[in-house]
Amino acid sequence: MSDPTRPAGPKIVAIANQKGGVGKTTTAINLAAALVEEGRRVLIVDTDPQGNASTGLGIEAEQRTHTTYDLLLEDAPLQEVIRPTSIDGLLIAPATTDLSSADIEMVSTEKRSFLLHDALRQPAIDDYRLDYVLIDCPPALGLLTVNAMVAAHSVLVPLQSEFFALEGLSQLMLTVRELRQSANPGLRIEGVVLTMADRRNNLSQQVENDARAYLGDLVFQTVIPRNVRLSEAPSFAMPVLEYDPASKGSQAYRALAREMLKSKVPATA
Ligand SMILES: Nc1ncnc2c1ncn2[C@@H]1O[C@H](COP(=O)(O)OP(=O)(O)OP(=O)(O)O)[C@@H](O)[C@H]1O
Ligand SMILES: [Mg+2]
Repeated sequence: MSDPTRPAGPKIVAIANQKGGVGKTTTAINLAAALVEEGRRVLIVDTDPQGNASTGLGIEAEQRTHTTYDLLLEDAPLQEVIRPTSIDGLLIAPATTDLSSADIEMVSTEKRSFLLHDALRQPAIDDYRLDYVLIDCPPALGLLTVNAMVAAHSVLVPLQSEFFALEGLSQLMLTVRELRQSANPGLRIEGVVLTMADRRNNLSQQVENDARAYLGDLVFQTVIPRNVRLSEAPSFAMPVLEYDPASKGSQAYRALAREMLKSKVPATA
């Protein structure tokens, strides 16, 4: 029997920032792992042709015969694409470089912004009993990221604690506002999370102060520190929570997960 307290489907969160190397993939992998530690079931959808989330979770090339590309452009059933990872409760729709042509191929399709939305609303999604879907976006505001934002209930923005971090954020927020007026009226900002922070460094502290001054409550209280364990973990094909559970990076992503679980941003529609 279905549980009436359970929302209609998983909460879908796009992890996006058009700037490269700000911690999107690191956040997707480790926030997902931390949510799984909290007893949630999580699917990561890799929408980046670089496939870093897939590699970071140890998905080998031969396990990538069906990928997010097939979900978007070949009407593939979810069952063909979703793969387990070494972590129970953590699943992935992997990506390969195939996806680099998707932006162009999607343009000529009628529902070009809704391809991921529709793929994630296949009835089979219920079979996975997911609580969250985290979409790891590529570093661009093209159709792949737009598809992620149209599919999502909310957008989580990693912001690297460095000079120029806030530059580009207005463009991202503008995209969110435009989508709210068109394809996805319910889209919310889940929050902005400062990444690679060094609180002993004045510049890093300044970026945090500026972000909190401009964005107020949109900024998560949790700050992700610069931590070498976070950058080592993907080469061992593990989230940092497995690779070094006691590290500062693990502790930070656990705190972020708990903060997000308290979030009032609902999964509606
Ligand atoms: N908190 C952190 N401390 C130390 N290194 C980090 C941290 N977060 C991310 N990194 C490292 O910084 C690099 C960029 O991070 P990541 O790949 O998560 O960014 P991204 O936004 O997904 O990049 P892209 O835009 O290329 O997809 C990676 O080598 C990663 O291991
Ligand atoms: Mg990435």
